[in-house]
Amino acid sequence: MNRTGQVRVAPSMLSADFSALGAALAAVEEAGADLIHLDVMDGHFVPNITIGPLVVKALRPLTRLPLDCHLMISEPQRYIEAFLRAGADMISVHVEAEQHLQRALAMIRDGGAKAGIAINPATSADTLAEALVYCDYVLVMTVNPGFGGQKFLQPSVEKVRRIAGMIRERNLDVAIEVDGGIDRNTAPAIVEAGAEILVAGTAVFGQSDRSEAITQLKRRS
Ligand code: DX5
Ligand code: ZN
Repeated sequence: MNRTGQVRVAPSMLSADFSALGAALAAVEEAGADLIHLDVMDGHFVPNITIGPLVVKALRPLTRLPLDCHLMISEPQRYIEAFLRAGADMISVHVEAEQHLQRALAMIRDGGAKAGIAINPATSADTLAEALVYCDYVLVMTVNPGFGGQKFLQPSVEKVRRIAGMIRERNLDVAIEVDGGIDRNTAPAIVEAGAEILVAGTAVFGQSDRSEAITQLKRRS
């Protein structure tokens, strides 16, 4: 089981109807979402382009839920201020995209948000060893970032278990979030390995009963 014994679900707005984002947000909040996951892509770090601080700012007044901004962008440090100003509560930067990770994480924390380190499937958990003390959560990618609706990469379960072990050994207050291909079938094993926050795009927006979708994700088996 994970550290806290709790599972939080973060619907990814990437799978929502972009012509009616406000309504989609209201629907998942009503359905029991714990936070709102916003995927920021720049067409450079990942092969897709999505949203920026303006959209985060527009969504901010519509919900009291934490806005969890996943920056899949090169040189994320250049944009941290803008996302803080837009009202982000959590900001994650990719370990592969940031040369000065500690400084980026400190900027996020100084701005009053939770700081996350995102890590791609083929990047070793070892790269986190010295960085864990500077973050509040690790966002473990369980698909290659860029698109919703991809297939969960099974080796991610052992990777999460390893990272959970590193956090435990160091006695740190760091949560593990997982992102990509999370659904009712893949969720139980990754939660058992140590994940606390489940990002889910297709699994939530692909089902007409969003509340049932969120409940299913929280089931342990
Ligand atoms: C992928 C994004 C994810 C994506 C997940 O690059 O980071 O947040 O929306 O979508 P599903 O749950 O459909 O895999
Ligand atoms: Zn994401």
